Amino acid sequence: MKISNEQILELIDEAIKAREFAYTPYSHFKVGALVVDNHGNHHSGCNIENASYGLTNCGERTAIFNGISKGMEKIDTIIVVGDTTGPISPCGACRQVIKEFSTKDTVIILANLKRDYKIMTVDEILPYGFEL
Ligand code: THU
Repeated sequence: MKISNEQILELIDEAIKAREFAYTPYSHFKVGALVVDNHGNHHSGCNIENASYGLTNCGERTAIFNGISKGMEKIDTIIVVGDTTGPISPCGACRQVIKEFSTKDTVIILANLKRDYKIMTVDEILPYGFEL
């Protein structure tokens, strides 16, 4: 089923709400994410930083791990939002994690606080990504 512009804006707003919980004392760059899973359930996430910088968990990975911990199998739609000029560009690690739980039909919505957005597939964000 094709997702309408109105539905997309509602999902972006939900991701923007999740962003408020971001723990970012080091970068002060907050990221919010929302996953709609294959059962239609919503799982939110935000980035969570650490004094040992490398232990930081990105917003989209938090949302995905939140979903997996509650019975999600696949990502139907994922929304990622940050305070960027254009739609946010997810890091490489998150692209690989998104791929792990995506199908060819997974809808990836990259957005910013102005609610500019761009819709992509997993093959577009991660061509030739690793798989076993
Ligand atoms: N960050 C995300 O949450 N998602 C991304 O895809 C890119 C980066 C976070 C990590 C860190 O807390 C902050 O943004 C600055 O890198």
